[in-house]
Amino acid sequence: MSAAAPVSSRLPVFPWDKLTSYRTTAAAHPDGLVDLSVGTPVDPVPGLIQRELVAAADSPGYPTVWGTPALRDALTGWAGRRLGATGLTHENVLPVVGSKELVAWLPTQLGLGAGDKVAYPRLAYPTYEVGARLCGAEPVAYDDPTELDPAGLRLLWLNSPSNPTGRVLAKEELARIVAWAREHRVLVFSDECYLELGWEAEPVSVLHPDVCGGDHEGLVAVHSLSKRSNLAGYRAAFVVGDAAVLGELLQIRKHGGMMVPAPVQAATVAALGDDTHVAEQRERYARRRTALRAALEAHGFRIEHSEASLYLWATRGEGCWDTVAHLAGLGILVAPGDFYGPAGDRFVRVALTATDERVDAAVKRLS
Ligand SMILES: Cc1ncc(COP(=O)(O)O)c(C=O)c1O
Repeated sequence: MSAAAPVSSRLPVFPWDKLTSYRTTAAAHPDGLVDLSVGTPVDPVPGLIQRELVAAADSPGYPTVWGTPALRDALTGWAGRRLGATGLTHENVLPVVGSKELVAWLPTQLGLGAGDKVAYPRLAYPTYEVGARLCGAEPVAYDDPTELDPAGLRLLWLNSPSNPTGRVLAKEELARIVAWAREHRVLVFSDECYLELGWEAEPVSVLHPDVCGGDHEGLVAVHSLSKRSNLAGYRAAFVVGDAAVLGELLQIRKHGGMMVPAPVQAATVAALGDDTHVAEQRERYARRRTALRAALEAHGFRIEHSEASLYLWATRGEGCWDTVAHLAGLGILVAPGDFYGPAGDRFVRVALTATDERVDAAVKRLS
């Protein structure tokens, strides 16, 4: 009997490995590497969040998958206040161990498989496709989801603001997509992890009453504290929306032991109760964005979309790997657009997640 093909053979090549030689080139710059490739936060975890984590360090017992009542209160309170979602109860929220695991394992946890389709934007965070492939469902990239064939389509991913393009879907556009998905009984998961990082647009949640009519059926929003609170290292994220969908996920995740550590739950409560650190962090990114944008444009780049999120979606009108090589020669590492789909092959994604000192170094090198 032949052995089954390894699960990893269903997955694309881990793209970041392809950047290794460019990283080596960029790191050889006499003034050192400016890494604008991965969107990983570099600024400190705000003090009030660190204090809550430490205060909860003595947590000998198992945490619960659903989270403490205090955490659920924080999640419903924040979603009501910040997203404008109405009528939320604890049944409408569920913490997750960072949103990447949720994105990757959601189709599996929903019981999808061969014969089912999972759709996501043509240019997208690669983990939507990975999630479809992990469970054997068919991944489908879309330009406009309402042009998809709804037959067999079981899960529709939205991502506004978008990684990698920074594009924001207007309220009317979201409402049109939600109406279509409801008509065809397609479950919508809306990845809104950059919602607090709008620059030239005000991102709106799929749970806003103007989008969903105050009814969460068939809709779930995905949120993360990684970017808004510099908590990527804590693995703190959550989903909000349709109670029936989240109730099912809760059962599965309980059996699977997918628990957010108790100190992280406590830290999340503190983080969601404070808007000041979010505003301060936004200011840092806004300054870096203005400086990088001007320097890139002066260097001959054209920036598309990028009205929100932590990225500038930039092109010099050449293949993305030529641009990666050009910038690596200046000691600047960026992500090639084709990491996010073949449609990105003439763009690079420039992250705003470097210190002020490193951003200044990049600006100098581009001038
Ligand atoms: C669109 C999108 N979704 C989800 C994630 C995962 O974030 P985390 O797992 O830190 O919550 C990222 C991270 O970059 C992202 O860009």
